[in-house]
Amino acid sequence: MQEYECIATTSFGLEAVCKREIIELGFKIKKTENGKITFFCDKAGIAKANLWLRSADRVLLKMGEFNATTFDQLFDQINQISWHSVIDKDGKFTVLAKSVKSKLFSKSDIQAIVKKAIVEEMKTHYNTNWFEESGAPFTVLVSILKDKATVTLDTSGDGLHKRGYRVRSVKAPLKETLAAALVLLSFWDKSRVLYDPFCGSGTIPIEAAMLGLNIAPGLNRDFASKHWKWMGKDIWKEAIREAFKAIDQDIKLNIYASDLNADSVEAAKANAFEAGVDEHIQFDTVDARKQSYNEPYGIIITNPPYGERLLSIKSANQLYEDLGNIYPKLESYSIYIISANKEFEAVYGKTSNKRRKLYNGRIETWFYQYYGPKPQD
Ligand SMILES: C[S@@+](CC[C@H](N)C(=O)[O-])C[C@H]1O[C@@H](n2cnc3c(N)ncnc32)[C@H](O)[C@@H]1O
Repeated sequence: MQEYECIATTSFGLEAVCKREIIELGFKIKKTENGKITFFCDKAGIAKANLWLRSADRVLLKMGEFNATTFDQLFDQINQISWHSVIDKDGKFTVLAKSVKSKLFSKSDIQAIVKKAIVEEMKTHYNTNWFEESGAPFTVLVSILKDKATVTLDTSGDGLHKRGYRVRSVKAPLKETLAAALVLLSFWDKSRVLYDPFCGSGTIPIEAAMLGLNIAPGLNRDFASKHWKWMGKDIWKEAIREAFKAIDQDIKLNIYASDLNADSVEAAKANAFEAGVDEHIQFDTVDARKQSYNEPYGIIITNPPYGERLLSIKSANQLYEDLGNIYPKLESYSIYIISANKEFEAVYGKTSNKRRKLYNGRIETWFYQYYGPKPQD
């Protein structure tokens, strides 16, 4: 099987989590940079990575990398890439460009030159002057950093955070990829109890349940490369068949999702149903401060209001202070809180064992980790 160089893109701060996921899928890492991990895989691996990576935003197929300081150089280098061997004759292709600290900086010019160079290469090989562009989508990404161009094809289509289960949203939801990463960063595993007392639309409990049941996060959605002739239909079919087979049907998870707002709880229920995990989550409408955290060795992973988007700073601080009077008394618990509020630790009154800067979309947040003891066997 031929190996290809692929790039998994992820949010800043999640590179180590994403890298670990790629290694667990059995792929060899080439390098890890800010927001992207380059790895090797065959065509089946492209389907597998798209279906299974929980913390990646996209999987890109690397087509070329070269230095270019003039448009002539850019044209020539792009024209030398064997586009016709990947892009279908009727492929509908779009070029997106990004340029940072480089001599070539006009995005619209880069896009136009790159598209022309691709069309010229395809004209020669397909022996035609006209492309209908009515078929499968091919998005070419040209990213130029300090005069070095990296050219990729997007194999994912919609960002991988779009799992297909979010039929109802709430204000300020977490990105699915980030919620999955929070669970992967915690000590939670399927044998332990999980609480999200500020569950909103249910992203954290749903992602945890999918992880616990070994449900591939991409099973409920489409991918651009699923429609490429180059991939071959059987590769995707087989990857999907294997993913269905891998679901662990025989376990029962212990996950509690609650929120003060009844509409949010209804949204979380609807989303969990769509994700096929509703039977594994117990829902409740209750104030997080009145929740009974009865089960020993519980893990709380939660995303309380920030005090900007949902609550005033004053009431958010009051809430954090109240939590600081409740959670540290749960001695067997491990507690993980993500908040955009930089004052969180000070108001909560306890310094975390570890904190990590993460991004929810463009919002800078902090993931505060308070480790409890491991359960005794
Ligand atoms: C930032 S949102 C959580 C978003 C969620 N992680 C998601 O992905 O949809 C915070 C949630 O806390 C809830 N909330 C606010 N005060 C609360 C309280 N005292 N107890 C429980 N939930 C509360 C809000 O209704 C809101 O749904």
